[in-house]
Amino acid sequence: MARKIIIDTDPGQDDAVAILLALASDELEILGITAVAGNVPLDLTSKNARIVCELAGRSDVKVFAGCDRPMGRDLVTAEHVHGKTGLDGIELPDPVMQMADGHGVDFIIDTLRAQPAGSVTLCPLGPLTNIGTAFQRAPDIVGKVQGIVLMGGAYFEVGNITPAAEFNIYVDPEAADIVFKSGVPLVVMPLDVTHKALTTRERVERFRKINRVGEAVASWTEFFERFDKEKYGSEGAPLHDPTVIAYLLKPELFSGRHINVEIETQSPLTRGMTVADWWRVTGRAPNAMFIGDLDADGFFGLLADRIARL
Ligand code: RIB
Ligand code: CA
Repeated sequence: MARKIIIDTDPGQDDAVAILLALASDELEILGITAVAGNVPLDLTSKNARIVCELAGRSDVKVFAGCDRPMGRDLVTAEHVHGKTGLDGIELPDPVMQMADGHGVDFIIDTLRAQPAGSVTLCPLGPLTNIGTAFQRAPDIVGKVQGIVLMGGAYFEVGNITPAAEFNIYVDPEAADIVFKSGVPLVVMPLDVTHKALTTRERVERFRKINRVGEAVASWTEFFERFDKEKYGSEGAPLHDPTVIAYLLKPELFSGRHINVEIETQSPLTRGMTVADWWRVTGRAPNAMFIGDLDADGFFGLLADRIARL
């Protein structure tokens, strides 16, 4: 039986690769994709999600527009990383498929109410605004969620949008606070693991040779990685969001610790910091499986194998 998931996303080239990985994997049943404002504004993230579905030949997938701004803050975007469109790197046709009717938050609420308890996994790849809003508006759904596997936060890597915070958590710390305090089983893919999933030249060229989807992935990667290579002097960029989907498919590729993680929402200096008790010094109850490492070759091999199916 395929695992039922909802992907909540702010495409973003790395989100796009994560969506493609999910679409290529029969182990997963995508109940719907909910777009959220993040890397670029909502009108673009909701358009980009449809572009990716059509690239994979999956215009049957429902794509909903969710929240266009954080729960209690002004929107912060990341065009400096992802480009003006959010999918810079290759020209793809505008989507023909329409947006699904209804708001993304209502889709999350209605789906969790309709599906058997414990049967749906939420996969947030951007700011947690849609998830936090759904939990706040419909507390009854919290206990029905099988689990949340999200990309966000950091411990040793600390921050990428500020010295203290990772982008997804920084953009909407109030939503993240709701999610991390919800009691839903969490698996967190922080920068600590995503910065070990680097798009080296060899890995990118392997994608390019696969098929037209692989070519798009290689072109997106080449655009997306320029920022991180310049900033970190690394050989390639961290491929953040596909780690979420890869965890669902092959959890054995990853390792981490079940620890307490809390979100800074008060301090302007450290807003959005994930205060991860990696060394378990606080005595606070663990609430997240915080992933610190992965088999990078295994991860990229999985990606290549699945892209070849599209
Ligand atoms: O900090 C990395 C995260 O922020 C990724 O999800 C990327 O897509 C951006 O949303
Ligand atoms: Ca993202």
